Amino acid sequence: MSDLLWQKPGVTVDAAIQAFLAGDDVVLDREFFLHDIEASRAHAQGLARIAILAEDELAGIERELDVLAGDFSAGRFVLDDRYEDGHSAIEARLTERLGDAGRRIHTGRSRNDQVLVATRLWLKAQLARTQALCVEVAGIALDRAAAERDVPLPGYTHLQRAVVSSLGMWWSAWAEAFIDNAARARDTLAWIDANPLGSAAGYGVNLPLDRDHTTAALGFGRMQVAATYAQLSRGKFEMAALEALSSAMLDLRRLAWDLSLFTAAEFGFVALPAQYTTGSSIMPNKRNPDVIELMRATYASVAAARCEIEQLLSLPSGYHRDLQVSKGALFHGFGKGLQALALLPDLLRNLDWNTDRMRGALEPSMYATDLAVDMAREGVPFRDAYRQAADPARWAEGDPAASLLARVSPGAAADPGLEVLRARLVDVQGMSGS
Ligand code: ARG
Repeated sequence: MSDLLWQKPGVTVDAAIQAFLAGDDVVLDREFFLHDIEASRAHAQGLARIAILAEDELAGIERELDVLAGDFSAGRFVLDDRYEDGHSAIEARLTERLGDAGRRIHTGRSRNDQVLVATRLWLKAQLARTQALCVEVAGIALDRAAAERDVPLPGYTHLQRAVVSSLGMWWSAWAEAFIDNAARARDTLAWIDANPLGSAAGYGVNLPLDRDHTTAALGFGRMQVAATYAQLSRGKFEMAALEALSSAMLDLRRLAWDLSLFTAAEFGFVALPAQYTTGSSIMPNKRNPDVIELMRATYASVAAARCEIEQLLSLPSGYHRDLQVSKGALFHGFGKGLQALALLPDLLRNLDWNTDRMRGALEPSMYATDLAVDMAREGVPFRDAYRQAADPARWAEGDPAASLLARVSPGAAADPGLEVLRARLVDVQGMSGS
């Protein structure tokens, strides 16, 4: 490892202690290393604006940061345990290449605000991706809701046959869910869009740092003003982002559940695209829906990440090394969550319905509610109509198309409000940049 930035003369470093301190931290820092470099550039520009760096020093730093970003992306620079962490690696590299200019880069900043700003930029990118994926999912669901609007599907409560439903209703449910999830990602992104750089160790510095410049240069919506709050927001903002992601994961879990039921032979309503199924090692006949099962399980990873961070935050104000542990949880949660979400659009696009099986699962009892409401419309008090309609003798093979056509309550089969959902989708899409 290169010399530790904080090494005191005469104190030897114990390898086991050092390994415990470092953990997998430097490897995790790869995840946001490019953001750390980007923030270092803005910080250097800010230092030049208050004459801590000369213009030629700034030019050298900007050039070397570009080279470092390129080397890192191409695999020519590997961030590994030669360095304590990604933050010190940037300083070591600049010092090695530029001498004094590199030794000046850390003026007025701390690794405490450095890790905050890199994480914050990374979080913004993940939330933008979450938003864009949710928009894509909602768009597919909405298109299919329109295309398959009047196809009958049994509607269940308690997994018991309840009333006639439709593919239009099934799809529009997921459309609206993922519009909400996209909006939540967008709103959370706006909520965390605050620049912590310049808060230093959490107490500011005796320099007139140009925080407005770094805020604008890094594309933040606002400055996180109170230097001590910047540290308090670590973990809190990560949790908010994971909550936004888990909102999508929660719906994905239930969608996956529907599909795993509907593909079972007992239902036989839908066939998954072949790439989304696997075989069995022993049973030659099997096609298993493993992909949707792992999608369903992903909620656990995201919820666990949020929970791990929450457990860390029982701390007084100020920086504590405990906070470092939030990084692994955060990267794992978002890594798993976005990987699952990214597979959803193609899955939905390629679902193949067996409309005969869906229609075959409808039975006369599923028109009983229509019957009771019809009688109530004719003036029979609903509770009396309900009793009469409960009599199986009154049930007959119904017409699903007629049942769906009569379901005129807003949001139901005959009036699904797809244009309202379309307008909301356009609105939430506009901000996602997708
Ligand atoms: N790896 C550290 C973290 O994630 C960086 C900040 C270190 N700051 C410190 N005062 N030791 O928290």
